[in-house]
Amino acid sequence: MSATESQPIPSVGTATTPPARAAGVSPATRSVALAGEHFAAAMLYLLAGAVGLVWIAPELAHGNYLSPHVAGVTHLFTLGWLTTAIFGALYQLLPVALGAPIRWLRVGHASFWTFAPGVGLFACGVADSTPAVQHVGITLVAVGIALAVTNIAATLPRARRRDVTWAAILLAITFLSSTLVLGVVLLHNLHTGFIAAARTRVLATHLHVAIVGWVLITIVGVSHRLLPMFLLAHGADTRWTRRALILLAVGVPLLALGLTTHFTVFAWIGVALLEAGFAHFVRQVRAFHSVRVRKKIDPGMRFPMVALAFLIFAAALGPVLLAIGSRATRVGTAYVLSGLLGGVVMYVVGFFYKIVPLLSWTAHYRGQMSRPGVPTVAEMYSARAARVQLAMMAASVIVLLVAIALASSIAAYAGAVLFLAGVLVFVAQLATVARGGPRQRVAQEAA
Ligand code: HEM
Repeated sequence: MSATESQPIPSVGTATTPPARAAGVSPATRSVALAGEHFAAAMLYLLAGAVGLVWIAPELAHGNYLSPHVAGVTHLFTLGWLTTAIFGALYQLLPVALGAPIRWLRVGHASFWTFAPGVGLFACGVADSTPAVQHVGITLVAVGIALAVTNIAATLPRARRRDVTWAAILLAITFLSSTLVLGVVLLHNLHTGFIAAARTRVLATHLHVAIVGWVLITIVGVSHRLLPMFLLAHGADTRWTRRALILLAVGVPLLALGLTTHFTVFAWIGVALLEAGFAHFVRQVRAFHSVRVRKKIDPGMRFPMVALAFLIFAAALGPVLLAIGSRATRVGTAYVLSGLLGGVVMYVVGFFYKIVPLLSWTAHYRGQMSRPGVPTVAEMYSARAARVQLAMMAASVIVLLVAIALASSIAAYAGAVLFLAGVLVFVAQLATVARGGPRQRVAQEAA
């Protein structure tokens, strides 16, 4: 970590461990505001996505994944929640974990102020099939991504350590750039139909490059650094991450090649590599868990575990879908729903529970650790409410999957409303975190 950029502050702490004595995680103070604005916008988009989920519930139940409504709402989650949250997290992680201060903080802010409003316009334009709004939205999104990718790429050479996390970030931003190109092709096709029958194959390519290449590879790389810290796990065999990254990074282009050409053999090799890469990641997570010092798993760390279960389900459906083809629209919808909503969306929620309280703690209490009433990082939110939220969100994805299996709109509405309720609990929790912890503690401190 750069000495000029961060100050020693507490670890993720526990209710009983005073933050001052806990080791290790130190936010990069120069980029706290940058991360904070990204996290706030990401939360708004998660909420918007959850509301949108209720709206598209019947279309999901009937496997109507080509609907513009579904595509619009999907991007509230993928660009609005996931991509915005990842940008914010990288602006913290790069200085703290890799010793690479962000190259241009102002470019980071400029990227945010183009990307964040652009996502909303793009998603609304797609959902509403309004070309003018789509065009303004995609222009802002593209500029925002170009600025963020350039900034991150210019930051990476400054890193003091070039480990697997560093390599994962480099790979991930490359896949994000490809995602953008494929997305623009798909958007143009919505107006012109120029790729005709190839639409579903290009769409499948786009979403795998995006979800596996951009989001999952980031998750694998970031988890490699953060899980041992969050779990207090030392001495695990850490070779699985490297293998996972190689398999995933080779598997994505091979799958893309197989899907976009008629050489199905490449698609099958790609799928095999992706399955193996994902299995290696799961093995790595297990290795961290098996050596963890803290036996009790806190709420933030339960989300990634549940998310992995949904990702495993999606991984099992993947080869089935490739075998039966894109006409099995409900299987396809269940596959993306499980991997996206139950998998990567929930995984990032768990990491939010670890990262955001730490940043907020730094902003409110740095230098005041000994003052009475100052909460530990873990006391900034309710562990009980987090467990309720997890139960709601996990149950909601299961109900949605059942709804798709039964083609039941009513069940889909129930699942979507449950998901929205879980997100509302999350918003309430993070609002508490943002103002420095529960009111009674803050009041005590003032007294
Ligand atoms: C970078 C900018 C992006 C653009 C311009 C874009 C554009 C599009 C478009 C136009 C569609 C609809 C295609 C059609 O129905 O024919 C689509 C679908 C989709 N995209 Fe993106 N996308 C972007 C980023 C992402 C990211 C980052 C993710 C995931 C992390 C993602 C995941 C998906 C998924 C899952 C679908 C299928 C939605 C459905 O079933 O309707 N996209 N994208």
